[in-house]
Amino acid sequence: MIPISETVEKIKPSATLSLSAKAIKMKAEGKDVVSLAAGEPDFPTPENIKDAAFDAIRADKTKYTTAAGILPLREAIKDKLKRDNGLDYSEDEIVVTVGAKQALFNALMVTVNPGDEVMILAPCWVSYIAQVKFARAVPVIFPLQEERDYQPNVDDLEKLITSRTRCIVLNTPNNPTGVVYAKDTLEGIAEFAVKHNLFVISDEVYEKIIYPPARHISFPFLGEGVKERTILVNGLSKAYSMTGWRIGYAAGPKEVIDAMIKIQGHSTSNATSISQYAAIEALRGPQDSVEEMRREFQKRRDYVVKRLNAIGFSVKRPLGAFYIFLNVKHLFGKRYDGKEIKDSTDLCELMLERALVAAVPGSAFGREGYIRLSYAASNEMLKKAMDRIECFVKNIR
Ligand SMILES: Cc1ncc(COP(=O)(O)O)c(C=O)c1O
Repeated sequence: MIPISETVEKIKPSATLSLSAKAIKMKAEGKDVVSLAAGEPDFPTPENIKDAAFDAIRADKTKYTTAAGILPLREAIKDKLKRDNGLDYSEDEIVVTVGAKQALFNALMVTVNPGDEVMILAPCWVSYIAQVKFARAVPVIFPLQEERDYQPNVDDLEKLITSRTRCIVLNTPNNPTGVVYAKDTLEGIAEFAVKHNLFVISDEVYEKIIYPPARHISFPFLGEGVKERTILVNGLSKAYSMTGWRIGYAAGPKEVIDAMIKIQGHSTSNATSISQYAAIEALRGPQDSVEEMRREFQKRRDYVVKRLNAIGFSVKRPLGAFYIFLNVKHLFGKRYDGKEIKDSTDLCELMLERALVAAVPGSAFGREGYIRLSYAASNEMLKKAMDRIECFVKNIR
């Protein structure tokens, strides 16, 4: 067997995708699994968006588009960034990508050289570390603490700076913690990035899934010196329940965006033409469904937090996204049905096999001692999951 490249050899498959895949397989085998593992809204894509896609197909908008994405969509993104975030970008400072995931990937590929260091605040979304490694750069993990509500302290960030630090990746609202960074935290990071001449990749895909009193502040809004070094990444997957349509985008300095388009031109080419036309409707059409979904997530969050606290966990209400990052340290060293629970992977495996509830181990997000539960599931499923977790935990001794 001819070996595959060392770069890819060193990278682990996505833990969230593999756990969801296991849950799907068990379901296909007829098992009544409730999955709280996936990172996607359970609502259907709004009708007006689906109609726009049908219209695009019937109008034969089914051919290659420019690699950067069609101009009317980039204009719609430009208007969205102005309307929602108070940001001024031109169309040629915007690229449409195959989901936010590709925007993040390409942003890293164009900002770092092999051996450069990229700061990542952890716990963090599963793919950042892998993507940094794909770019042959070095992920430098900055550990955030639950006791400090996972808000980074800028004085501590200073300690990790080296001559190779090139970039910092931010994600607010955050996956997996649900934390939204406070304005002064963001201002501190902005000052830090300017001082050390760093690129900032700001992943804002959960912007619309946010609960009062939290408010989303887009990172480049913190000032011109900040905007010129920021690559803002966002997408339609979470806000419009369009995960399968694969539409994301990046906005940033023209040279960076041009470089990202160059990669796209030689790799994927354009994001799907039909999805791009549907995305125009998503951004320009009525926004009621976004707010309806947000309100529903808020109710579910309250329900799940209440149930978990009643079961004996200690959970604060997260202010964004649709995840609970549950501290499960007190269960380690105990046994379920004679089987010892040593870490979050053991716990998730047992919970899936015995309680038929799928969750993701904290280790997948760079933090042992926790599991991530997604409450992007129907009320009925959440009730079932909470009942099962309650019963499962009672039997851990
Ligand atoms: C923090 C974060 N960033 C990016 C993505 C990728 O989203 P997309 O579907 O737009 O590629 C996800 C998806 O789970 C995410 O949680």
